[in-house]
Amino acid sequence: MPMLQQVLERARAGRAEAEAELFELLSIPSVSALPEHRGDCRRAAGWLVERLGGMGMETRLVDMVDGGCPVVVAEWMGRAGAPTLTIYGHYDVQPPDPIDEWLTPPFEPTVRDGFVYARGADDNKSQHLASVLAARHWFAEGGPPVNLRFLIEGEEESGGRSLPELVRTSAGELTTDYLLIADGSFLAPGVPALVTGLRGMLYTEIEVVGPRVDLHSGIFGGVAPNPFNSLAHVLAGLKDRDGVVRIPGFYDEVVPPAAEELRDWATLPIGEEQQRAAMGVAELAGESAYSVPERKWARPTLDVHGVMGGFTGAGSKTVIPARARAKVSMRLVPRQDPARVLAGLRQAVAELATPGTTATVTELSSSPAVLMATDHPGVGALRSAFTAAYGAPPVLIREGGSVPVTVDFTEALDTHLMVTGFGLPDDALHSPNERMSLDQYHRAVDTVVHLLHELAVAGR
Ligand code: BES
Ligand code: MN
Repeated sequence: MPMLQQVLERARAGRAEAEAELFELLSIPSVSALPEHRGDCRRAAGWLVERLGGMGMETRLVDMVDGGCPVVVAEWMGRAGAPTLTIYGHYDVQPPDPIDEWLTPPFEPTVRDGFVYARGADDNKSQHLASVLAARHWFAEGGPPVNLRFLIEGEEESGGRSLPELVRTSAGELTTDYLLIADGSFLAPGVPALVTGLRGMLYTEIEVVGPRVDLHSGIFGGVAPNPFNSLAHVLAGLKDRDGVVRIPGFYDEVVPPAAEELRDWATLPIGEEQQRAAMGVAELAGESAYSVPERKWARPTLDVHGVMGGFTGAGSKTVIPARARAKVSMRLVPRQDPARVLAGLRQAVAELATPGTTATVTELSSSPAVLMATDHPGVGALRSAFTAAYGAPPVLIREGGSVPVTVDFTEALDTHLMVTGFGLPDDALHSPNERMSLDQYHRAVDTVVHLLHELAVAGR
């Protein structure tokens, strides 16, 4: 296919520029969780609009929620009769803390040993930028062989509702044959993956209140209800030492993976030793009766992310704090209903709080788990594209992480989803020193170049 070859040539010749552009995007601290970075989120969105508009796509920013981050929407419907591909991405990133643990500053992209280090390098800036560049190379050769749409949101990392609402309210204008979500990673170096399931998420804040004001722990200690001790009881009571979550009804609706899926997973290069090494721990936590892939992909779990309140200064202060709070989330698996889990959590928390204290649970965000079909032509196209760019077809896996809008895509749009990723498992997403392999990034551009071609061949 001469045209395809020319587009690939362009991609190869454009590698230095592709890196320069990635570093520009990575320099924008688009942290959606922190209100002080709203302007930066808008700047990242504007940066993308310039590029997508510049290559001839009809491009706009959509503001759905007051004080939210805009969605970048770009469209080109210039191939009547050809299938339409929508490409998803998120330009927002996780907060960079703990800052002191970064070897180089999180928003000053730095290359070491073929990797670029920066917050958002893997998750998700290089991944959607690779698709933007692939599209640009096609436009430079007369236009993509399929119709194209980009939906790049800015609230993925903070559970925002902008894109989910846009998808639900504008489903009629967003019809698409295929939808590519590249927000995951390879299973191992050289082993691309097609994701057949994502876990869901229920993110909450638990607050425990007790005395009207902070109290002297000598004067009142012995009779004072202590919200922090109470919170400790609550948190300890929510998950036992063996990783079993103690929320009433938590496991009632859990659907186990099919026998065939489990057999498949048993052959994958992901086991206990490998996980211990990846985390630097002597022992794994969790439900030891289940395999590592099952625990990470198909079992629900609960984790505490932080506790706030009380005295945390350098010396000692003998105080009984009036209140204490914690961030707690649950990863959900197929058929678990976030609303029912929340109701169960509220009951458990109320029962665990100690006398004289009151605990309340606030939901910050939630989305259910999603399973993806693999019996459509897009999967064959993706398989060919990965094989061409990386020399290997994807293996079927699930991911333990969440991409909340996926459920809105599956419920509101009648489309074929392709969930995959171009990062490597040790890219340190959400951790200090997040990175992306530049070789993976360049091959990601090639993969999407191939994918557009393959989808045009596959048809709808
Ligand atoms: N890209 C990740 C999800 C992911 C990680 C998928 C690893 C596959 C492999 C995504 O950006 C993410 O981290 N999402 C959040 C969503 C949450 C804040 C609602 C997550 O999973 O914690
Ligand atoms: Mn992501």
